[in-house]
Amino acid sequence: MFDRSVFPVVAAVGPTAEQVSLGFFPDLWVVPPHRPREVAVDTDTLYLANAGSDDVLAVDLVTRFPKWHARAVGQEPDGIVLDTSRGLLYVLTLTGQEIVTLSASTGEIQSRLRFAHDPTPSQIARGRYLFGNATDPRLTKDQWMSCAICHPDGDVDGRQWNFGDGPLDTHTLRGALACAPLHYTAHLDEIQDTYDFTRRTMAGRWFVQKDEMNDYLGASNAGYNRDLDALGAYIESLTPKRPPSPPSEALAAIEEGRKIFFSEKAGCAACHPPPLYTDSGQEDVRGNFIRHDVGTCREGEDEALQLLDTPSLLGLRQSEPYLHDGRASTLESVFTYHNREDLHGHTSHLSENDIYCLSEFICYLDPGPAQTSQ
Ligand code: HEC
Ligand code: HEC
Repeated sequence: MFDRSVFPVVAAVGPTAEQVSLGFFPDLWVVPPHRPREVAVDTDTLYLANAGSDDVLAVDLVTRFPKWHARAVGQEPDGIVLDTSRGLLYVLTLTGQEIVTLSASTGEIQSRLRFAHDPTPSQIARGRYLFGNATDPRLTKDQWMSCAICHPDGDVDGRQWNFGDGPLDTHTLRGALACAPLHYTAHLDEIQDTYDFTRRTMAGRWFVQKDEMNDYLGASNAGYNRDLDALGAYIESLTPKRPPSPPSEALAAIEEGRKIFFSEKAGCAACHPPPLYTDSGQEDVRGNFIRHDVGTCREGEDEALQLLDTPSLLGLRQSEPYLHDGRASTLESVFTYHNREDLHGHTSHLSENDIYCLSEFICYLDPGPAQTSQ
């Protein structure tokens, strides 16, 4: 029933870097492995440890068809080692914190060894597991998708997705909840509201029935389901990554950029005020969340995207390409080519060097010492 939007492909790269793709595994389309993390190889077999589907798959390298598919190996298989002399595979599971031993010829589980205790608070660890997992029918169907496939570790895949309302650039989840409402359309204010997206795009059933839920921007939908709250707690725990310390030769440019950013003429801080560098969450006189058209909304684009929630500028260096549809491959182009009418702050008076300084300033914005990256 699925298209090929999210599917694992195994590619073999030779020493001379010519790439030989092994292609799709046609007979696994019904239950594809999800988020393969590591491979082990012997002469005729490729073993895949799949973090998102909790399984291990052995593929015949000659026929390229599966030899066996061991399901429910453990929570989040992340590493795999083959011991050819004993005919065993050792699989490390990240959330399960186990070493699972399997027979290399049949995939049968031989033993399990719990090797460590994860110090992550249990609710956040549970949320992280659900976030990366494609076996739970509440989130997806037939091991197809997980949140992590587009938001790896809560970051971005750098891709643009069309969910029926035009191409949209994947948004980082780091710091997202501190700047609620969520999405460019500002129609949700917590992860517990992600019902429509999960049903429509991921083919998941969701954790709560829609008629049991409050309006997305109304009373909270937290407290209805423990797993759903765990997913929310995990995403809430993701904070923007701190930038590296700027090299000393960049300090003058950053200071110059800071002056431009806060100047009345450029006007950036009106919509991107510190500390989060966004006005997301502020309301207009009618009590609606503030959104703007900064000249980037396209004619014919979905009505909900005619005005956009202002993104935070924290963690910007991880989020290229820029703008809601990913049209800007560099920061400089956001203020030049994509702002020819001065609708996105006033930038036409700025020299090439000014634009460089402004970009340096926003690239080195620091979320502050209280926030640490995970
Ligand atoms: C197929 C790719 C894809 C998958 C799967 C996916 N997302 Fe996203 N996500 C996106 C894109 C693209 C955006 C930006 C578009 C938007 O904001 O509407 C986004 C935006 C978001 C935002 C808004 C961030 C902000 O700061 O406004 C949240 C929250 C979010 N996703 C959570 C999730 C959760 C939770 C899951 C799993 C249930 C998930 N996403 C699965 C692609 C995906
Ligand atoms: C009127 C409000 C407003 C003003 C003024 C404004 N911005 Fe924005 N900014 C937005 C909105 C809304 C978006 C989202 C536009 C889009 O994605 O198409 C945005 C997007 C951005 C982005 C892209 C972020 C990303 O992750 O893709 C950057 C960078 C940015 N603004 C920096 C600035 C700077 C620097 C200035 C001053 C020259 C400025 N903005 C002035 C509202 C504003």
